[in-house]
Amino acid sequence: MTAAPTPPKPGWTPHAWRARPSAQQPEWPDWGELDAVLAELARLPPLVFAGEARTLTESLALAADGRAFLLQAGDCAESFGAFSANAIRDKLKIILQMSVVLTYGAGVPTIKVGRIAGQFAKPRSSPIETRDGVTLPSFRGDMVNDIAFEAEARRPDPQRLLRGYHQAAATLNLWRAFTKGGFADLSRVHAWNQEFVTASPEGRRYEDLANEIERALRFMSACGIDLDAELQLHQVDAYTSHEALLLGYEEALTRQDSLTGDWYDCSAHLLWIGDRTRQLDGAHVEFLSGVKNPIGVKLGPTSDPDEVAALCERLDPDRRPGRLALITRMGKDLVADRLPPLLTKVSEAGHPVVWACDPMHGNTFSHASGHKTRHFDDVMAELRDFFAACADIGVRPGGMHIELTGEDVTECLGGTEAVLDADLEQRYQTMCDPRLNARQSLDLAFQAAELLRS
Ligand code: PEP
Ligand code: CO
Repeated sequence: MTAAPTPPKPGWTPHAWRARPSAQQPEWPDWGELDAVLAELARLPPLVFAGEARTLTESLALAADGRAFLLQAGDCAESFGAFSANAIRDKLKIILQMSVVLTYGAGVPTIKVGRIAGQFAKPRSSPIETRDGVTLPSFRGDMVNDIAFEAEARRPDPQRLLRGYHQAAATLNLWRAFTKGGFADLSRVHAWNQEFVTASPEGRRYEDLANEIERALRFMSACGIDLDAELQLHQVDAYTSHEALLLGYEEALTRQDSLTGDWYDCSAHLLWIGDRTRQLDGAHVEFLSGVKNPIGVKLGPTSDPDEVAALCERLDPDRRPGRLALITRMGKDLVADRLPPLLTKVSEAGHPVVWACDPMHGNTFSHASGHKTRHFDDVMAELRDFFAACADIGVRPGGMHIELTGEDVTECLGGTEAVLDADLEQRYQTMCDPRLNARQSLDLAFQAAELLRS
């Protein structure tokens, strides 16, 4: 299936955003150096290929229709320091496990999209941070400055954009190798379960499911089906995404597709606009309105239905299924009130969007220990209310957007083997927001599969 061609947006150029107010951009101390770095990035190869972004759009069109489910997941912020093959592998493992649980449990294909290979820039609630009377620029992600609270570290450094690009390229290289080179083969379904997960209730539940899958594969093989010939069993499509925050970087990686003449932001397959940068006349909306990638928009509790309909019109005037994912992050207490009017308005306007739930960002709070955290029960509560609202209004729940890691961290509270208040200190490793660990992520996948099935 190929989407009908639509003409490129007339008058749009990759730099047109520069005429608009752009929120959340760093105060680069040396704009000349920034320009030189961006010119270099513009000469470097694209990270993804336009055809891949089109294939993802086609898959997302199915999610808009209830025939697939989007699992978008990964770190809040990738970091230069925690960059390792094992971390990439473990992230892929948990995403594969969750996908198997969702697909097996709900009977629909799972579209796998990592918050990975470019998720290096963060919007901040304040441009400055003060500690003990000292005020410095806020940390804006490793692609901008360093998290250490020292003047030199916090100075935005354009060379970090290049380092981010190269780390994204290396990450993507391994990501592709793992997904296409045998690691993601369904016959390895047991091997994705990590040691520290196996003994937990959700780990055992996963083992049972993996046994059933193995039996089903043996059964098909015994029936004479040549499983070796079925490519779908041996490799997966796993896509990349990040928040398109630093528009200079995104512009430098935007290329015209030689096949169609369309512009694609080739820094990732899917780009999203954050809740803080979704201003209708702002630079981020202008920029993403002109690239053909599938795009997401985060919608927090202040989202107004008319404004959201206007955003849909700006970003998806052709009502192209799979083009737009609306990722709602209302918080558990507000979702039942704020979500239904948006679902109704966008449906009435005829936009075939993917409705995805981010049950993380509306449920963050400061713990007494000083750590930012989230409670697993709050995350589940928002997810449940999201599914309920979709059912009430009659739209398909199309996906979920989760901050997680494959590692055994203690950043979010709760779960079946509960992370308790006193545990937070033990392995709190995130650069930014608290992530579910692999056990909590698997638990969430089982519960989401049940919601999806019903
Ligand atoms: C994020 O996804 O890490 C983020 C900052 O989200 P939001 O824009 O929804 O606050
Ligand atoms: Co976050």
